[in-house]
Amino acid sequence: EKGGWSSFMAKEISEEPDAVANTILGRVQDGLVRLTEFEPLGDDVIANIDRIVVVACGTAAYAGMLGKYAIEAWARVPVDVELAHEFRYRNPILTDRTLVISISQSGETMDTLMAVKFASESGAKVVSVCNTHGATIPRESDAVVYTHAGPEVAVASTKAFVAQVTALYLIGLHIAGVRGTLSDELIRENVAELQAVPAKISEVLVTSQSIKQLAHWMTDTQSVLFLGRHVGYPIALEGALKLKELAYIHAEGFAAGELKHGPIALIEPGQVVFVIVPSPRDPNSLHKKVVSNIQEIRARGARVIAIAEKGDAAVLPFADEVIPIPLAGSFFEPLLAVIPLHIFGMELSAAKGLDVDQPRNLAKSVTVE
Ligand code: BG6
Repeated sequence: EKGGWSSFMAKEISEEPDAVANTILGRVQDGLVRLTEFEPLGDDVIANIDRIVVVACGTAAYAGMLGKYAIEAWARVPVDVELAHEFRYRNPILTDRTLVISISQSGETMDTLMAVKFASESGAKVVSVCNTHGATIPRESDAVVYTHAGPEVAVASTKAFVAQVTALYLIGLHIAGVRGTLSDELIRENVAELQAVPAKISEVLVTSQSIKQLAHWMTDTQSVLFLGRHVGYPIALEGALKLKELAYIHAEGFAAGELKHGPIALIEPGQVVFVIVPSPRDPNSLHKKVVSNIQEIRARGARVIAIAEKGDAAVLPFADEVIPIPLAGSFFEPLLAVIPLHIFGMELSAAKGLDVDQPRNLAKSVTVE
């Protein structure tokens, strides 16, 4: 039931803090991650894997990309993220030391299911991240880490996405613990950051109200670009997917570093560009690089909407609009930056008079290949 909300999507966006909190619940002990779900696999399997392949489709694949950044950083295992349908039909290299992680809200997506079955038959171990108890994909897997986002009704995924990222981060910290690649102290630090995310999302939900006006102003917009770097890159892709799905607008997400290698040719006066800005505290100084990207597109007439850390003074002179997000460690910023983009997709769809929950041509669970 919508319970007073204008759409299921509005309700589900409001539940994003709970989706993260409930997915963490019961999986932290003494500040460390304990995933009992991994027990059937055995610690020796986790200790011996030499590669992880994440398979998923759509929004779930973008969650997988965030998982790659975090798992590689924490557990020092190479991670590839593959669209399930591309992975399945190109004779991929799998061994008994490959861990395949599938991600699916519904647990019924046929493309993902076929990839899981193929991986199992090829001798790889399969762990699935799924939001639906007893679905087909979990039943075909060696282990399941359930996301506890609650049932998601709107076709475009929102709360399931943040829950998937949460589950992948827990998996990354769990594997890092087993393999000893991160000290207990650092694991605890990251766990605490993750546990702080729900309250910060709640804060973003309040401050993002102004996005409704932005959406109203943009009902005739034909094309929107999204730029992000590092963990901001999957968020750029997610923001663009939401606009395609919900508002039927041509939208593209780019890695900000790629701008000068092509996409900057698209920038003409009035082009709307959302930019996900890393924290000015970023240890790799990516902030500076993204700010200079903003200057480059601004000089060519782009209308810049920056999603940036609260108090980031460097973006102010160059952005037409700044959507502030609370301070968080770099892996946790995307869980905050994605919220305004979910709201924006929903508001633009509503402002155009479209069906927010049931966009044309789409189904919540696609059970054909
Ligand atoms: C698509 C939906 O068809 O399936 C996306 O429109 C979703 O929103 C994707 O991300 C994957 O679905 P699932 O259930 O496997 O996570």
